Amino acid sequence: MTLVAGLVMTLLCLAVVATALIGLRGLASQYNVDRIVRVTLKTIHMLKNEQIPPVLPTQGIAGLQVVRPDGSVKSSSVLLRGKPRMAVFQPPDTTVRQDMVYCDSALWPDQCMVIVAIRVYSPEGDYLIYAADPVVPWYVDPRVDLLLLLGAGLIITVTTFGTYWLVGKALRPVDAISEELATITGSELDHRVPVPKNHDEIRRLAETANATLDRLEEAVEQQRRFASDASHDLRSPLTAMRAEVESALLDVETTDWAETGEAILASIDRLQALVDDLLQIARLDSGAPGRMDPVDLGQLAATELDRRRHRVRIIRDLQPGVIIMGDRLRLARVLTNLLDNAERHANSLVIVKVYEEDLCGVLEVVDDGAGIPPDKWEHVFQRFTRLDAARSRDVGGTGLGLAIARQICESHGGTLGIEDSVKGARFVLRIPVSR
Ligand SMILES: Nc1ncnc2c1ncn2[C@@H]1O[C@H](COP(=O)(O)OP(=O)(O)OP(=O)(O)O)[C@@H](O)[C@H]1O
Ligand SMILES: [Mg+2]
Repeated sequence: MTLVAGLVMTLLCLAVVATALIGLRGLASQYNVDRIVRVTLKTIHMLKNEQIPPVLPTQGIAGLQVVRPDGSVKSSSVLLRGKPRMAVFQPPDTTVRQDMVYCDSALWPDQCMVIVAIRVYSPEGDYLIYAADPVVPWYVDPRVDLLLLLGAGLIITVTTFGTYWLVGKALRPVDAISEELATITGSELDHRVPVPKNHDEIRRLAETANATLDRLEEAVEQQRRFASDASHDLRSPLTAMRAEVESALLDVETTDWAETGEAILASIDRLQALVDDLLQIARLDSGAPGRMDPVDLGQLAATELDRRRHRVRIIRDLQPGVIIMGDRLRLARVLTNLLDNAERHANSLVIVKVYEEDLCGVLEVVDDGAGIPPDKWEHVFQRFTRLDAARSRDVGGTGLGLAIARQICESHGGTLGIEDSVKGARFVLRIPVSR
């Protein structure tokens, strides 16, 4: 950055110096010619008054000559005494003055001269006055060049150091952020990057990085909790099976092996249910899309209700023709879990409703049980959550059912939540209808 700023400034200064030199040279050349012309005007005055001295005063220019009408030199400046005329050109008849640049003159072999020729009328013929001075060089004057270069050098130095200082100051917070980010590992996600005081892009970067770290920490924590809950829940049926087998082996003769087998089978069922749920969650977490077929929500609920043996009375209120796009198997799984829960917690009645509202297919499962306190409404959708009241009732539950159900609804672009009800719990599923 600093290097680029220095380079750009150097190029810019070079361009400015070059432009300034071109402009100055133009001005200096014009001034030079004016000066030469002023000297010739004085000489004309002397010629008219017939006061031409044999040695002409040059007044600071390199050479001056007065040439007679016959071409011979009448008078010269001191350095040109006895030399031939400095130029042979003369102004055209229509003008009195002509300027020329001579680089190959015999009098000044090593330099280019600007020569001004003036025609002076007189009765015996036209006199010519030649005045010469060196052409202004491209660099104009070494003192001017020195000044320009000093100025440019100063500007380049100030810009380069200024940029270095400013960039360093501006990027110091970024360095601090990178250093902090570099120390963060999978096991140390509690670090946060320093947020600078200024309200600028770097502050926004730091805030975004911190927000991302918050989410990462939360996700990692969730995974950790999930893994530990899963292992814990997998261990319980294994422990139960081991205890069953160990106690049976203690007295092989009197053991009721059929009873032992049944107890072990119950544990295997639980293990199987748990592993199925974990697999389902892994599939949903990976974002693997399910099938997308038109599904009639009312029909799906009717089929599911017909299939089941009910412990309590069921009231159906199923509007036909509520069609959503979705995976029939996964949606059936949501319904099974909602109905399992409702029947498990209902006193005597479960109501299942399907209808359309605000372009969404809605499915409600309401029971007349003890319900769920509002502060637990979100909690029950977290993995492995089983409320204390439920633990006594639902022996086999894994606490994964509602978490899976919500994930399935969300993968269909819908929602699953608990809403107010007069009695018991009211689970409401909403998925956009297909048109
Ligand atoms: N209709 C309901 N009435 C009261 N509490 C409920 C109801 N439905 C769910 N719950 C509570 O929410 C908890 C979580 O439900 P979820 O369906 O996720 O798990 P589960 O039914 O215990 O186990 P799983 O469904 O995995 O077999 C339940 O354990 C229960 O405490
Ligand atoms: Mg359940």
